Amino acid sequence: MRFARYYDAAASLENLGDFWRYGTSRLAAAGVDCSQGFQTPRDEAAALLARRLALEPEELPEFLGARLTTAERQSVLDAFYQREILRRPTAYILGEAWFAGRRYRVDERVLIPRSLLEPFLEEGFAPWVDAQQVQRILEVGTGSGCLAVALAERFPEAMVDAVDVSAEALALAAENVREHGFAQRIRLLQSDLFAGLQGERYDLIVSNPPYVDAKAMASLPPEYQHEPRIALAAGVDGLDYLLPLLEQAPQYLHNGGALILETGDAEEALMQKRPDLPLIWLEHPAGGYGACILLESS
Ligand SMILES: C[S@@+](CC[C@H](N)C(=O)[O-])C[C@H]1O[C@@H](n2cnc3c(N)ncnc32)[C@H](O)[C@@H]1O
Repeated sequence: MRFARYYDAAASLENLGDFWRYGTSRLAAAGVDCSQGFQTPRDEAAALLARRLALEPEELPEFLGARLTTAERQSVLDAFYQREILRRPTAYILGEAWFAGRRYRVDERVLIPRSLLEPFLEEGFAPWVDAQQVQRILEVGTGSGCLAVALAERFPEAMVDAVDVSAEALALAAENVREHGFAQRIRLLQSDLFAGLQGERYDLIVSNPPYVDAKAMASLPPEYQHEPRIALAAGVDGLDYLLPLLEQAPQYLHNGGALILETGDAEEALMQKRPDLPLIWLEHPAGGYGACILLESS
């Protein structure tokens, strides 16, 4: 459907409350996938509506009866159109996403922040990691830089190296690192996993690598096709990056250091392939696992 028709079809909407209800109904009826940082079509419609009006979603209830100007109607309906018809994720339409209490710039160069590691990072990976001992941190596969920033914030004494193989992702990460004021403590480097880090040693290595297996890649919702394939696809069994990370990380860790890995749905394949590894599985507050720790003690 062309935008002009989409726009005309909404001609009878009058106030902000109408637009919120309409966007919610359209997104729900279209069956959009809401797993990239939101819970429901209502949340996504609220974010699109509010941000296109330079408001925050929490402010919408105050303005339900407000009328929109012609330019505002166009802008809001353009956002709904992109979300419903083009299936572009809300974060990319708005150019922003939240992670661990901070707003980040995002676009199609990077994965939309939603790491399962967030609740564990908030607690400094206690009790497995002693924050006092952490001076050097490495994040592998930094994307938007959101985990690197959250790590720098949670471990204020530490220097952070954040690597990615994608130069495009690193360019956006640099903007986020600068905007959040961590340019002095986060060093961004282009590296294929550890290849560019010969001789470096860290107290903590953290990674949310690509881990989607081939079968899951083939049936991802259309929204995920907008994300970089390089941020998701991890071979037939989802282990193309997890295994090298687990095998090589000990060479880059100080004695007593820790590797924290998000494994997502590749958890089972990993346990089957490497039952010998002494992995500690982290129980997510929302249920299930999907992340683990390997402690270096050699
Ligand atoms: C799942 S995303 C995680 C992004 C970000 N850390 C987050 O949690 O939102 C995986 C990231 O790994 C990067 N990546 C893929 N292959 C890589 C490799 N061989 N070496 C380093 N980074 C890689 C991708 O470019 C992508 O940014």
